[in-house]
Amino acid sequence: MTSPVFVVVSGPPGSGKSTLAPLLAAGLGLPLLAKDAIKEAVMGTFPVSDAEGSRRAGRAAMEVLFALAGASPPGAVLEANFHRTLALPSIRGLPGRTVEVFCRCSRETARGRYRARSGTRHPGHFDAERSDEEIWHPEATDPVAGDWPVVEVDTNGPAEVEQVLARLRAVMPGRHADTTDHPDSAAWHSGPMGTNHFEGRIAQNYDADSPEMFDPAVVGPTVDLLADLAGGGPALELGIGTGRIALPLSERGVEVHGIDLSPDMVARLRAKPGAEAIGVTVGDFASTRVDGSFALAYLVFNTIENLTTQEEQVECFCNVARHLEDGGCFVVEVEVPQIRRLPPGDTVRAFTVTPTRLGFDEFDVAEQRGVSHHYRVAGGRAETFSIPYRYVWPAELDLMARLAGLRLRERWGGWGREPFTSDSLKHVSVWEKPAPQTTLRSSSRDRPRGHES
Ligand SMILES: C[S@@+](CC[C@H](N)C(=O)[O-])C[C@H]1O[C@@H](n2cnc3c(N)ncnc32)[C@H](O)[C@@H]1O
Repeated sequence: MTSPVFVVVSGPPGSGKSTLAPLLAAGLGLPLLAKDAIKEAVMGTFPVSDAEGSRRAGRAAMEVLFALAGASPPGAVLEANFHRTLALPSIRGLPGRTVEVFCRCSRETARGRYRARSGTRHPGHFDAERSDEEIWHPEATDPVAGDWPVVEVDTNGPAEVEQVLARLRAVMPGRHADTTDHPDSAAWHSGPMGTNHFEGRIAQNYDADSPEMFDPAVVGPTVDLLADLAGGGPALELGIGTGRIALPLSERGVEVHGIDLSPDMVARLRAKPGAEAIGVTVGDFASTRVDGSFALAYLVFNTIENLTTQEEQVECFCNVARHLEDGGCFVVEVEVPQIRRLPPGDTVRAFTVTPTRLGFDEFDVAEQRGVSHHYRVAGGRAETFSIPYRYVWPAELDLMARLAGLRLRERWGGWGREPFTSDSLKHVSVWEKPAPQTTLRSSSRDRPRGHES
């Protein structure tokens, strides 16, 4: 599976973006979308007579830039003097993974370059009428820096393009340059962001291995609450697995669609009665898009932790936000990290010890990661498998939600709406996508000045 890559080249006017961006686009095999080129084309058809008209053309060019980028299957290199507040929601809305290259240089360098080229560019820019404050706008003198990696480049002098390309590749996990094998194709290929740990025997034994999770006393309240939150609308399950929750929720009359990385888990689901009512897309739930919008998205049984980087977990929230209708909500059921049970100096804690099953969590506290090691004895043979995960704190999830434009509505200690307390071992959290009148994003009429050149 490949997912689009968007390389956002940002920095104030005169910072060297328009020199660097085409070189990056060529090196990465991605199309280049440059705001000024679009703006000049717009002004060719709709000439502007003053700086204010030029700013309007600039706004139109930004809209076109994001529309073209969103429609480009491999992604794109986007070059513009992005103003942070306005650019954040648009960049977040791009359907793929983002990395930012910020061109940093001194104010004097940027001003010198800008003034030197004044008069050589399209007259519609009205370069000579722009004040130093407009050129060196505080919204553009630092990276946009959403939830994506940022590569800062010193552009006071010529940039080392190969070095920038190498740094870019290094901060994009799951991607690699492949120019030697496929010199004519796009140089960046995205591998699946998540690795499929639920295949073969793990998928085959999944239901039998967790009988307590299939207990009606567990499934019933889960489905009750989810059906309630769906309010008659459609629901999207991330990591639908063998349909433990999706099937009874569907039987309750809720239209359910699922995403899962594991064809083997989906095959188990497909073999069950009632599965024909459920649509499933095989893909990574941090990036996979499915048709339609949903009143409810949900991610249960600690599955958010199967995304092993903070970046992927944030992307998952952003992906959910893209799928939710206004007022819709996202429910996550996940453990409270049990680090308090880990004595200083220890890295391993048992979570299951029975005559036929052993389970240990191995922690890397500095990296906020763990690996669950499972040992099972069956038919006189021992089987083992290990699954890496990234444990995540409630407050950290709230920040991820905010980054995605969602806000916390409820946090319970369980599916029965138990209070969440200091002793809770897990939480069921609900974030909602604000309806338009309370949206966190600014409308075009609200836009502050300065994103207009
Ligand atoms: C612990 S199981 C939970 C399955 C089901 N939701 C349940 O409650 O029984 C986790 C599921 O998430 C899927 N999964 C893990 N990481 C994924 C990812 N990045 N994208 C899509 N599916 C993923 C696995 O294949 C597996 O089916």
